[in-house]
Amino acid sequence: MTTSSVYARRRAAVARALKAAGGGIAVLPTAPERARNRDSDFPYRHDSYFYYLTGFSEPEAWLVISSTGHSTLLCRPKNLEREIWDGIRLGPKAAPAELGVDAARSVDELDKLMPELLANQPAVWFPFATHEGLALQVDGWLNQVRARVRMGAECPQSQHDLCKLLDEMRLFKDAHEVKILKRAGLISAQAHVRAMQTSALMLQAGQDAREYHLEAELLHEFRRHGAQFPAYTSIVAAGANACVLHYRAGDAPLKNGELCLIDAGCELDGYASDITRTFPVNGRFTPAQRRLYEMVLDAQKAAIAATRPGKRFMDPHDAAVKVLAQGMLACGLLNPKKHGTVDDVIASGAYRQFYMHRTGHWMGMDVHDCGDYTEPGAKPRSELDALGQPVMRRPSRVLRAGMVLTIEPGLYVRPAKDVPREFWHIGIRIEDDALVTAKGCELLTRGVPVEAAEIEALMGD
Ligand code: GLY
Ligand code: MN
Ligand code: MN
Repeated sequence: MTTSSVYARRRAAVARALKAAGGGIAVLPTAPERARNRDSDFPYRHDSYFYYLTGFSEPEAWLVISSTGHSTLLCRPKNLEREIWDGIRLGPKAAPAELGVDAARSVDELDKLMPELLANQPAVWFPFATHEGLALQVDGWLNQVRARVRMGAECPQSQHDLCKLLDEMRLFKDAHEVKILKRAGLISAQAHVRAMQTSALMLQAGQDAREYHLEAELLHEFRRHGAQFPAYTSIVAAGANACVLHYRAGDAPLKNGELCLIDAGCELDGYASDITRTFPVNGRFTPAQRRLYEMVLDAQKAAIAATRPGKRFMDPHDAAVKVLAQGMLACGLLNPKKHGTVDDVIASGAYRQFYMHRTGHWMGMDVHDCGDYTEPGAKPRSELDALGQPVMRRPSRVLRAGMVLTIEPGLYVRPAKDVPREFWHIGIRIEDDALVTAKGCELLTRGVPVEAAEIEALMGD
């Protein structure tokens, strides 16, 4: 299958869905360019939905799909003057052969073309609440259609959120996507290996190692293998910084005897990867660090075992929480006299003092990818929310082959009166990306070791 036919197949699936819903037109812009400061833009990143259906990464582009199956791309016209400054534009003439769309026009014609395409259509589909001003723009086009009703034009009677339809498609990764996700996972794993080894080498050489030194190694390895961007801002958190969940790589020193938590992954050809490893900066865990590390690793193993078809999205989380709660009681983070049994700790939520996030999220084009976390069509049932209050919720999503999610339990120990001092300031997270397969799951990010002994061996080499 050629690359352009991958996108053609997805566009055909959208057209079929529009037809099944009564027919209409779907319209989808890519992302805008954004200024960073005077004359400087942020690096351009296409819109994920748009790229999913086109494979086209130029800015100022739109896709229109009709329920008849006809697709039109609107893109920047060729312009020698602009291309000298900003680079080659594909242009509407070359777009059909290059991208497999049925027709292409200049984006300058958008406001003229859209009322024509929308006239006499029963419905319009576009992404709700994702592109600033888009709903107003669609209103403007519909107003122009309405202005022509006396000439016999009919105005679409309904508007639908295109995201809902595309989210469901994107939740299940096809072979083309899995191949890229695997390579992204491999590159990111190599970047983590490089950062760990750099940490050990710098410490052994007595150098002034900082968080940014390791961040630089990550970025070097991503780019060296052709990944275009980090999938998100890298977290390189030395020592106590690991207890700040959204910490970024800063300039804190890597201190002998402390841990470093790195949460980083590259984006390759539009697909993310998301890995966390926590390691001793000098290559040797202390007994206290190792004890907590093993606890998180056991939690991750339990969560991985619960990641298979037929299980629900929340099952890996529940499995991880159980292991962590047991561990917290066993090592004195929680006092059994005060907090009771494992079941009590889970019911009261006492474990949240040290583990306050979910164990995973969907991953794909976006690191926190789209997709319903509850089972579509299932009946809501009574559950307890994060504060222990009853709420009506649909049960969590049943896992199916082709879904990709992260498995990332952690433990974050802030100083407190009744918390053993040896654990203070230790923050640990272990995160891998899992593809749900026919029988279980495949971890895409195990090119970097996760067992404590393997990490020590890698850093000692
Ligand atoms: N790196 C973001 C996350 O783990 O969710
Ligand atoms: Mn994650
Ligand atoms: Mn992460």
